[in-house]
Amino acid sequence: MSRFLDRRLSGLTPYVPGEQPKGIEGLIKLNTNESPFPPSPEAVAAVSEAAVKDLRLYPDPECSALIGAISEEYGAARDQIAIGNGSDELLAFCFHGLCPEGAAFPDITYGFYPVFCEMFGVSPSVVPLRDDFSVAPEDYAEVRGTVFLANPNAPTGMFLPLDGVKELLEQDPDRLVVVDEAYVDFGGESALALLPEHENLLIVRTFSKSRQLAGGRLAFAIGSRELIADVNTMKFSFNPYSANRLALIAGEQAIRDVKYFDDCRAEIIENRRYTEESLRGLGFTVTDSRANFVFAAPPKIGGRRYYEELRKAGILVRYFDKDRIRGYVRITVGTRKQMEALIGASEKIIMGGVSEK
Ligand SMILES: Cc1ncc(COP(=O)(O)O)c(C=O)c1O
Repeated sequence: MSRFLDRRLSGLTPYVPGEQPKGIEGLIKLNTNESPFPPSPEAVAAVSEAAVKDLRLYPDPECSALIGAISEEYGAARDQIAIGNGSDELLAFCFHGLCPEGAAFPDITYGFYPVFCEMFGVSPSVVPLRDDFSVAPEDYAEVRGTVFLANPNAPTGMFLPLDGVKELLEQDPDRLVVVDEAYVDFGGESALALLPEHENLLIVRTFSKSRQLAGGRLAFAIGSRELIADVNTMKFSFNPYSANRLALIAGEQAIRDVKYFDDCRAEIIENRRYTEESLRGLGFTVTDSRANFVFAAPPKIGGRRYYEELRKAGILVRYFDKDRIRGYVRITVGTRKQMEALIGASEKIIMGGVSEK
């Protein structure tokens, strides 16, 4: 730490993203919930040489073409949509500017939420998940401060049905609820249907998972006109050009290519079913995931040992050294071939009598 750092940030522990190994040839990478499929062919084609040459120009700060496509696809008015550089940026705005009375979220959820609290000096209320890792809306009844709900949740993959989200919204109409729907396209229930009746709802969606554009860094928020105006005030006070030209072009096509989007997510859902079933067959405890990952605890050994053994076998998954979930690993759902390799390796580890050191 330098002597120039603001003391308020001296205790800041940054978020640790999943490993992005340099030489990934031969390695099966199932650790950061990216899509195993390339972006839509339409998106790839749209990033033409001419588009690359246009990089000399700033991007459209209003993101008009992309907002037009999202507006048509989701039936929301254009001024109810804001674009960000990944949901991490939009969530940062929410913590920075929309948490005057603090922020509330589960003990086991997206690891960036507590980091944003520290970064922006927001006081956190941590509400433990129930023993089965479910979110119980009634546990939030007395909670003040903006509620952040990853739905489906990470890393458990479990989702709160719409009735539960509605309950959170109606406990206190003066309390904002931000629903982080990074994984909703893989089988959850979107809170979009609740928007017309609930002006205390803000939904954040990403292009990183179901639209295969994690490297493009693109996301959108949907909410009331007033909330979206607030998000844009923060965006235009920070970096009006946070969505770059190529990402905007690719993102628009990714939204318009509905068939590719549907085909990819259907394949992920089917591969998730195969993986969960196979792991259960090997004696694993597996949550009911509605995301593009599986959350699984091996029999007899802990999550870390399983993670290490998979790594030796050339398969990278994510282990969280955190209370309550040390028994588990999070496994991104990839192609069928990748998941068969994972199951083969897991069988060897479990049947081969690997034990705790
Ligand atoms: C629950 C949740 N929200 C948001 C994000 C961030 O996504 P983005 O790539 O859009 O910044 C992630 C990334 O893994 C996530 O798990």
